[in-house]
Amino acid sequence: MNRLAILSDIHGNLPALEAVLDDIQAQGLKEIYHLGDLVGYNPFPNETVALVAAREIPGITGNYDQAVLALVPDPIGELLNARITPMGKEIYTWTVQAVTARTKAFLLAQPRERSLAKGKWRLRLTHGSPRHIRDYVRPSWPEDLVADLLSEVEEDILLTGHTHIPVIRPVNGKWLLNPGSVGFPKDGNPLASYMILELGEKVCPTIRRVPYDIERTIAAIREQGLPAKAGEDLRVGRR
Ligand SMILES: [Fe+2]
Repeated sequence: MNRLAILSDIHGNLPALEAVLDDIQAQGLKEIYHLGDLVGYNPFPNETVALVAAREIPGITGNYDQAVLALVPDPIGELLNARITPMGKEIYTWTVQAVTARTKAFLLAQPRERSLAKGKWRLRLTHGSPRHIRDYVRPSWPEDLVADLLSEVEEDILLTGHTHIPVIRPVNGKWLLNPGSVGFPKDGNPLASYMILELGEKVCPTIRRVPYDIERTIAAIREQGLPAKAGEDLRVGRR
């Protein structure tokens, strides 16, 4: 039996990551993977990356991570949102100036995707979708769309992030899974979200929701001069 913890969209929320790592330890899990977007939205990009690096958590790159690296001529338009809000732009600009060379080097070293074999199961790790890093595989997708997507994937289990909304969908003998977001849940539940994935004879995914010191994150948002609404959105778990 393989027992994995899957984290995604930590987005610079160090208190949320710390609480989730404590919960993972309490659950007796040793193997952790992340699905990208380590930075953005929240005020601890460097501390978050340092903790992921220190714990040697393998993962992949996210669209926000790539946007912060600014390796393309128009990172906002190509990797975030061409119709970004003034608030979104303010947070992005803050994050770009906040990240250190060490943080950037770590983000740069993250692969686009990973493929894993755990027992008899094969897993594909992508941030958005296997089609594009910025594609949203939405929870509202009808079954035929999910089936189309999974038919393009060789592996048995497709792990995606990016929507910040947890999903567990078995379709035609394969699985679409999304652990939700550690650092900025958008499903109306402000608790940090991650997934425990047990792989034995069967695939058994569980979503865990973890309370964390949200006031510490909100205080840092204020101290860094980031928009106060970013903190209010964390409190309600949506934007
Ligand atoms: Fe993302």
